[in-house]
Formats: sequence, C-alpha cells, structure tokens
Amino acid sequence: WNTIGIIGAMDEEIKQLHEHVEVASQYTQAGITYYKGTLHGRSVIYCKSGVGKVNAAVCTQLLIGAGVDCILFTGVAGALDPRLQIGDIVVSTTCIQHDMDCTPLGFPQGVIPYQEVSEFVADPELVKLATGVSELLFPGRSVAGKVLSGDQFIASRDKVNELYEGLRGACAEMEGAAVAQVCQMNGTPFVIIRSMSDKADGSAHVNFEEFTVKASDHSMRMIDEMLKRM
Ligand code: ADE
Repeated sequence: WNTIGIIGAMDEEIKQLHEHVEVASQYTQAGITYYKGTLHGRSVIYCKSGVGKVNAAVCTQLLIGAGVDCILFTGVAGALDPRLQIGDIVVSTTCIQHDMDCTPLGFPQGVIPYQEVSEFVADPELVKLATGVSELLFPGRSVAGKVLSGDQFIASRDKVNELYEGLRGACAEMEGAAVAQVCQMNGTPFVIIRSMSDKADGSAHVNFEEFTVKASDHSMRMIDEMLKRM
C-alpha cells in the first residue's frame, strides 16, 4: 500500500492518531480536516469524519480523491453478537445499512432497491491482517463478522434481537457501511475495525459514556499494529 487512509468518527477515535502520526501537512475540505503524515514509516492520511452515514460518505469520497490506496476505519460500536463483551473487537467481513428499509415495496431490510450490491465486502487481505492482529492483541476476544450501520444509536434489547436475529450483525454503529459503499463504488479496498463500547441495550448510553475511551484505545491499537505489518 502506498498511502493508507484512516477514518474515525469522533475525537476519541482519532485522538491517538494525533499523538502518534508525524504530521507533515493538513488541509480542510467540506469542513473535514485531513492530516497527511507517516505512522511506522507508512504514508497515511487520517481524519475525523463526524458521526453518521452522510458525514462518513463525504469523508470517504474526499479521502479516495486525495489518492489513498485503501481505507481503515477505527472506532467504537454496540455489540449485537452475545459473545462480545465491552472492549472486544469486530473486524468487518461485510457491511450493511440496517436503516435502509424499503420493506413496504417488498425489498428485504438493508437492501438498496435496484442496486446489485447492498452488502459490501471488506478486502480479504485486510480482513486477514486484522483478524491476525486481533488474535495477537486480544486473544479470544474478537469476531470477524457483519457490521451494521444506521443513523441510529441502538439502545434496546428488542432492536438488538431484530438486528442480530434478522440481519446477523456482529455489531451496530453509524458509519461503516457508508464508508464501505463509497469504497465499493470506487474499487477501493477497506476494512472496518470496531471495539465494543456497549451492548446496544438499555444500558448502552451509560456504557457508551463510560467505555468509549477504552474501546477507542483498543481499536486504535489494532490500527497501530496493522500499520506495522502493511
Ligand atoms: N456506537 C457505539 N455504540 C453504538 C450503539 N449502541 N448504536 C450505534 N452506534 C454505536
């Protein structure tokens, strides 16, 4: 990889990039600041997209326009898979927008009408690298699976059951599938790395406040270790 793009949605998620990347230059486009520099000798561009699918999509397209060869996303998520505990890691195999809902027209939940692909496949090489690193850093505490994205903070058992039973999501967050779709449209390899800040249930808002820093740190350790091996 020549230049690696790294996105986080919130300040907590990119804080350690500010600390570890040797930044050579920066510029702002569409209100998003892009930092160009090096991390473990690799050329990187990183940025904070902001929360939600529209922010993530705009951010990703601009990052691809800036010439990155692949995109890594780092951040936190709500666990859907009951095996996952707070702090555990999900590596995306695929991503779906769970709030894409044209079921009244007969399309299954998450399916984008009149479009060939609605489940966006992460780059196998990046998935392999990430799962290797997660087993090294967090043995027995990671899952490779489906990342579900929507412009909703999930905070109820009913919704968890719907997303886990219905769509078989490993975790729920608010950006991954938008990044994934833009990457797919551009032919850019990607992988989404998420650490669990909560279990998307009735305690999710409290857990999110408490564990976002720790979970962001876990996700960032993944990115750091992956960079050394890319
Ligand atoms: N990010 C972290 N926790 C989340 C949740 N419960 N729902 C959506 N996005 C999240």
